[in-house]
Amino acid sequence: MSTQRTDLLGRHIVLGLTGGIACYKSAELVRLLVKAGASVQVVMTEGAQAFITPVTMQALSGHPVVTSQWDAREPNNMAHINLSREADAMVIAPASADFMALLAQGRADEVLSLMCLARPRERCPLLVAPAMNREMWSHPATQRNVDQLIQDGAVILGPDNGEQACGEVGDGRMLEPADLLDDLIAFFQPKVLQGQRVLITAGPTFEAIDPVRGITNHSSGKMGFAMARAAAEAGAEVTLVAGPVHLDTPRGVVRRINVQSAQQMHDAVLPAATESDIFIATAAVADWRPATLAQHKIKKEGKKVAPSFELTENPDILAAVAALPQPPYCVGFAAESENLLEHARAKLRRKRIPLIVGNLGPATFGRDDNALLLVDSTDQWQLPPDGSTADKLVLARQLMAELARRLNLPESD
Ligand code: CTP
Repeated sequence: MSTQRTDLLGRHIVLGLTGGIACYKSAELVRLLVKAGASVQVVMTEGAQAFITPVTMQALSGHPVVTSQWDAREPNNMAHINLSREADAMVIAPASADFMALLAQGRADEVLSLMCLARPRERCPLLVAPAMNREMWSHPATQRNVDQLIQDGAVILGPDNGEQACGEVGDGRMLEPADLLDDLIAFFQPKVLQGQRVLITAGPTFEAIDPVRGITNHSSGKMGFAMARAAAEAGAEVTLVAGPVHLDTPRGVVRRINVQSAQQMHDAVLPAATESDIFIATAAVADWRPATLAQHKIKKEGKKVAPSFELTENPDILAAVAALPQPPYCVGFAAESENLLEHARAKLRRKRIPLIVGNLGPATFGRDDNALLLVDSTDQWQLPPDGSTADKLVLARQLMAELARRLNLPESD
């Protein structure tokens, strides 16, 4: 099930297009921005109009496109002032090498560079998504301009690495629209965990019985991956240890370690935990595994009785981390099917952790929404407060804010 989040609701974005083949991707970017709740004002240079028409961008954004500083539609004839005063951010995508050179020099001889220069820098950040051939990108002149733009306060998004329109392969491709959207959404999130090292486990584990079968569970990993994304958006350095799931690594996650079994998860987590400030154990770890692993597939042929096998206990990863001499701040998850509060409180005590997040497993596995019950040694409260459900990423962001409060972290931009 998928829910539609409006992460950019109420945001005004000026989207500037400059000359480059990646202009076709910006049509999709406008669609995504609008879908995420933003209002988008498109501005196009002459070069951009050689690749895509203002008609397309007007239809997708719902606003006439600005293409000239002499556009008489603005009553005071000052589109560069008016539009940049309303904007929460200016995004240049694609940003050509030439346009970045203009920006670095502070030139203003056409409407988009004029608007970038005239924008109120404190209120209206500039995000630049370069798009060019790999030789142009790696050229010292371009790199000099990039450094200058960063020094001047711009945020550079990408570029990506891969196949280029010219047939060459390398750095310089514009980020995909979905990635640009995620980066912009992340940009607007409060940096409540700036500089914190956050370790997260996610997904189920798979305990092999023989080379083709195993014991696993219904965890989809979505809650853990939402935690990882929210932590990265909040400015944390995130390590994600994932069981077998089919989910893309959230942008901004520094390191992902894929594992199968609880033992492998334990072996990946323990060394990382000593270097972490926060540990969030979202994974649905199998409590037991088959005591012996059959070397070959257990065959049915000729057998009258069902095979039986012994189980042995897996290490408790969360309890092991909480028992470290200097443990990170540990957050456990309790996936239950009944008596949520009672079980969550019992687990909090048993695992000796400061905070546990309860949820009803069967009601949430595989879904994009969830309802959480946060429990600490003295208190308990629901997220969302009214007991309804909310998108997992929205909940994860609220949990990050709660962790920042508990750890007394200062908010930084
Ligand atoms: N957990 C863990 N290692 C395990 C089992 C659980 O790290 N071997 C973590 C989970 O990631 C979760 C929390 O412990 O954060 C609670 O897991 P759960 O399986 O619900 O708890 P159990 O102690 O196994 O209790 P029970 O199976 O009786 O519900």
